[in-house]
Amino acid sequence: MCGIIGYVGKKQAFPILLTGLKRLEYRGYDSYGFSIFDEKGGIFLNKKVGKISEAEKDFLGMDIQGTVGQAHTRWATTGKVTEANAHPHFDCAKEIFVVHNGIIENYGELKNKLINEGHQFSSETDTEVLAHLIEKFLKEKNKKGEKRKLEEAVKEALKLVKGTYGLLVMSKSEPEKIVAARLSSPLLIGVNNGEYIVASDPIAIAPFASNIVYLNDYEIAVITPGNLSLEKERAPEKMEYESEEAEKGSYEHFMLKEIMEEPAAIESAIKGRLISQDGEVKLGGLDSIAGRIKDIQNLILVACGTANYAARTGKYMFEEYAGISAETDLASEFRYRKPILSKNTAAIFISQSGETADTLAALREMKRKGVLTIGVTNAIGSSQSRETDAGVYIRSGSEIAVASTKAFIGQLTALALMSVYFGRKREMAMVMGKRIVDELSVLPDLAQKVLKNSSHIEQIAKKYVLAGEGKGFRNFWFIGRKYNYPVAMEGALKLKECSYLHAEGIAGGELKHGSLALIDEQFPTVAICPSDSVYEKMVSNIEEVRARKGRILAIATEGNEEIKKLAEDVIYIPKTLEMLTPILAAIPLHLLAYYMATALGRDVDRPRNLAKSVTVE
Ligand code: M6R
Repeated sequence: MCGIIGYVGKKQAFPILLTGLKRLEYRGYDSYGFSIFDEKGGIFLNKKVGKISEAEKDFLGMDIQGTVGQAHTRWATTGKVTEANAHPHFDCAKEIFVVHNGIIENYGELKNKLINEGHQFSSETDTEVLAHLIEKFLKEKNKKGEKRKLEEAVKEALKLVKGTYGLLVMSKSEPEKIVAARLSSPLLIGVNNGEYIVASDPIAIAPFASNIVYLNDYEIAVITPGNLSLEKERAPEKMEYESEEAEKGSYEHFMLKEIMEEPAAIESAIKGRLISQDGEVKLGGLDSIAGRIKDIQNLILVACGTANYAARTGKYMFEEYAGISAETDLASEFRYRKPILSKNTAAIFISQSGETADTLAALREMKRKGVLTIGVTNAIGSSQSRETDAGVYIRSGSEIAVASTKAFIGQLTALALMSVYFGRKREMAMVMGKRIVDELSVLPDLAQKVLKNSSHIEQIAKKYVLAGEGKGFRNFWFIGRKYNYPVAMEGALKLKECSYLHAEGIAGGELKHGSLALIDEQFPTVAICPSDSVYEKMVSNIEEVRARKGRILAIATEGNEEIKKLAEDVIYIPKTLEMLTPILAAIPLHLLAYYMATALGRDVDRPRNLAKSVTVE
């Protein structure tokens, strides 16, 4: 989704802003723009639709001077994808420049008022009202009858705004200054020897600074060369971000690199956390609430997209191994529900980015209601990780491709660890804890084994999307039961978002309740059927599909020869505990989506219309 970077210091701002914007590209965007003040009172204002990489050569010949500047990548929400709607937005006199992430919900009403007062708008966006509001308040004197400073005008403008924002403001009247403000949309300020790099994502700051300050909700920061003024003064923190992870290395795409890192994601999630001899796991982030775990009577797991499928898998784990009643919901639905809560309810929020707007809103609502909140997060220092009462980092490393792959594996691994942690504080026997812990310890090797099959999976992927009179198939069912029902949904989502093919994931038992009507030779079914407690039931579902001439691609356990008689193609995964099969089964599904999408020539790392981190409702 939208990205922000700003620079205040002694260096030329443009190269820093350009690098930052390129690093923010992975979030997904459709247009971009810069505003940079030079020392002679001039401004470089440049807004374009399209990809920065395509325009980079045009910048080479330009003399872009200035040590204070800001830039933005826009992912359209209010207003079409046009140059005029790209940020920075400006006031009537083109003196004030604003870049903004988030949504101004009451912009229509504010815009009408401003138009009646004589303001002239040049875009269709909600953001532009901010520039005009700031213009208005800058013209008015403050309560003491003095001319308002930029930060005072920003403060007054934000009092009128309903919605969310992470924003930067520059004004020609105070050309050495950037004012930054946030509400429910992240902004971080990198600090490096008197220069400041402010951005919505640490990835843009990482090459330039290693210490950061997280801006708080409702806080306004004033940044000038050599000085950062915060409402609540605090020292910068060390940024925990591995810059080199954001490189593709020898891989053609981040998505493939990240799938290949899935064994490492498991390894990293379990590292130092397994205590085999006691059948326990160590999760330091939960220590502060350890005493409350045995009293939890019901768990609510809340997330969006892929993280929601991890939550759904976690529900089976917590019920079966921790003996806690668990329900799940999509954050976008949950935040508007009136769930039945008790003092023994705990809510788990799962998010790779820790910045998903709906998940954060649901978390804040639960906090308001006094519910114990626990986060499962990848991004260190993200809003979710800072706002939950306790939490577990999945430690998957930065995930750049829009499609979430290694983070899903990390989330499942963390949930397995948490179900042992919770279980052992409740009724789980030591032997059971030990069984899970020991199986987790070998899981990275088993995952690596799945990846060894990647060329076989690539062949199958090509066959399914390119074969059949050169057309291939355009519709897919993914079916699974119990632990692998959410994995079926994950397989379908991944295929949809990366390849733009139609896919749906459903519970095997649901087929005959309507969906079977669609089955024919042209509508293949991917059946996730490891040798587990529901294997026989899955075989019945596979037979139902075959009876209607449906093709089957099975994900089955190594050694299962019977499945070859039922399925046109089989991808094998190693044997593991039933609760851990989703971790292994998801890997070939991620590869399948990747290879199908690349065979069709899709932009897998940045699929159309999507953003990496969904920071608006
Ligand atoms: O950052 P989060 O885990 O909160 O993101 C949630 C979803 O937006 C995300 O998983 C999305 O569904 C992915 N693009 C799926 O691959």
